[in-house]
Formats: sequence, C-alpha cells, structure tokens
Amino acid sequence: MTTRHVPVAIIGAGPAGLTLSHLLHLDGVESVVFETRTRKDVEETVRAGVLEQGTLNLMRATGVGERMEKEADIDEGIEISLDGHRTRIGLTEHTGHHMAVYAQHEYLKDFIARRLADGGEILFETTVDSVIGIDGAADGDVCTLQYTDAEGTHTLTADYVVAVDGSRSQFRGLILEQEGAIRARHDYPYAWLGVLVHAPKTNPELIYATHDAGFALISTRSEGVQRYYLQCNPEDTEEEWPDERIWEELHKRVDSEGVTVQEGEIFEKSVLRFRSAVTSPMQRGRLFIAGDAAHTVPPTGAKGLNLAVADIAALAPGLIRAVKDKDTELLDQYSDIALPRIWKAQHFSYWMSSMLHAIPGESPFEAGRRRGELRSVLESEAGRKYLAEQYVGRDLPTFPDK
Ligand code: DHB
Repeated sequence: MTTRHVPVAIIGAGPAGLTLSHLLHLDGVESVVFETRTRKDVEETVRAGVLEQGTLNLMRATGVGERMEKEADIDEGIEISLDGHRTRIGLTEHTGHHMAVYAQHEYLKDFIARRLADGGEILFETTVDSVIGIDGAADGDVCTLQYTDAEGTHTLTADYVVAVDGSRSQFRGLILEQEGAIRARHDYPYAWLGVLVHAPKTNPELIYATHDAGFALISTRSEGVQRYYLQCNPEDTEEEWPDERIWEELHKRVDSEGVTVQEGEIFEKSVLRFRSAVTSPMQRGRLFIAGDAAHTVPPTGAKGLNLAVADIAALAPGLIRAVKDKDTELLDQYSDIALPRIWKAQHFSYWMSSMLHAIPGESPFEAGRRRGELRSVLESEAGRKYLAEQYVGRDLPTFPDK
C-alpha cells in the first residue's frame, strides 16, 4: 500500500489553518486540514469579533469577503469611557483605516465554505496522533503523520507540517525541545465574563469602559444580538454571575449621558482567562506553529484572530516558494518576520488591559497613576492617534488581487 503525500499538512481548522489552506490553494499548493472537533463545533464556538484592516484586506483580496461586506458592522471609531465620560477615538480620522465587528465563527464559516467549494480537504473529527521526520534536511525528506478518524488509524506524508492547533497545542512541545527555544509568559490578575444578549444595540460604536468597579466592554453581533464583557476575578464561575448582578454592574460601569446598556435575554455566559505567551522560534525544521499555538494575547483589543492571520500572511509565501521552487530561504525567515509584529500586538494588548482594568487590591498610587495614563492618552491628539493606529493594526500585509 502506498502512503498518500501532500505538500502541506495543517493541524487545526481555526482562523490560522483555514486561512493558510486557502492562500496555499490560490497559489496552486494543496494541503489537508486536520481538525479534532466537528464542523458544527468549529462553526458555533463563541469567540471575539473584531477584524483589523489587514484581515479585511485579506478577505476582500482573496475572494472570501462577500458575506462579511454585507453583514459586518464597519466601524470608524471606538469610544473609551472613564467614569462615565466618553472620548471617541476616530480610527478612520487618524489612520484612514477602519475595522469590522464580525464574529470569529462567521469568519470560519466563510473560509470552510470556500475551501470545500474549491475542493479543499478538511478532515473534521480527525486527530493527528504523531508527526515524525520534522528534522529531515535532505531534499526529498518528508514528515510522516499518523492520524485517527472514525474508521481507524492512517498515515500520510507531507513536505511541511503547520500546527495551528490552538493555545493548548499538542505539537508546540516539539519546537520547545530545541536548544534556545523559549515560551515567555505573563498572567493577569483579572478575567472577563462574556455574555451574549438578545437586545437592541447600546451604542453605534464599541465602548471600552473603565470604572472603580472594574472594566466593561460593549460590543455587538447584529442589530438584535449584543456582546458585553465585564471584568471579573480569574476564579469566578458563571454561577457567581446571575443576570441581575450582570445588569447592575454593566449599568454602573457603562451608563453615561446618552448611553444606557440595553438589556434582554442573556443566552450565553462564559469566563475568559487573561494570559500572554510567546513561543520562539516558531519553526523546527519542517514543522511550523502559528496563531494561538504559538502565542496568546489577552482579549482586550481583540488581536487574537488578527495576529493568527498575520502569522499566516508571513508564512504562506515562504511555504509556497519552498513547495514550488524548492527554495526555503524565505520560509526559514518565518520566525524573524512574524515575531516583531507578535511582540507589538502583545504590547498593545497588555497596555490596553493594564490601563483599563482596576487591579483587585491595587494601591491608591497605582490606581491614580493608571487613570493618569489613560487621561494622558485620551486628552492628547498624538495619544488618540497612537491608540487608533495600534487598534486597526499596522504593517498591513498586502495581497495581490485574485
Ligand atoms: C470584542 C472582543 C474584544 O476583546 C474586543 O476588544 C472588542 C470586541 C467582541 O467580541 O466583540
């Protein structure tokens, strides 16, 4: 029996894996995507919902933007509220760019539909058990993947393997075994309770609200579904947040002149942990990691998906050249190309988080300094512009029209 061969094996059908598979296909490089979860699970898991300009550019330029264009909320600004006084950050005014509020699972639905329409292979409910041969350096060397689905265990060979299997990545360990490889980490003393609500919009634009009682964020999903977040303790469970407590805290933290948090039926509640982590390098031989498998950002600013897409924008051209021309020069620069951007996004997410959250038990000095920092940013034209640039995303990857 001959073992099937593909140029690129992709482990994980999240934003990174599906975007990569699509970009490779557009350049004539085929791949197989392995995903342990069901298609339904992938398409329904609730995640963040902000797409940076670079992500929007990629969707539009590669023919996956049609539904997003119709359904997403295109926003030209955000508001930041300090004790009920709101300041608008004009994203378009300061940068010429905008962002879109479009849920991550909608992004995934669009890419899954497009990959399947293009004849792409996404193996749902299939687990990759092992990858061997990643260090093979000779021309013609391949990796061997063993994987299991409902029918049993199989093998496949690939020139390159990309593990985009999320923050609990099963394959990151192989990268970290290399001498000099590190995973830099930071934990935060707060978390978010995220809720989905059947209610009309609270405000035309997102509101990031800081208050003595803690942070709150008003976002949206559609005219009739809103996404709200409340700062909570990392140990909190959903049971500690009955609906009445959620409404009381949201009103306290967000309501201000002209804005009243719109209430409705809460149909989803979950606690989101805050963590930062960066793995470097992001390559070992023929194995690459990207997205959450390589790094985690705290949710403030919603950089996670965008960073995963930016990793792929850095990785795809190298893989395409390696597969088509047998030239790995660009591919071997992947970590060096991706990491500076990752650290900038880490900094932004950390900075926004630290500036907007009250730390439980913080000293009067630290609380005052933190608010002084936020005021300095909000009251300065340069400060607002800096925030706007980081928020919409800089160093936009460019894509040729297809
Ligand atoms: C959303 C999440 C975020 O973390 C953020 O900064 C803005 C919006 C959201 O889920 O809509």
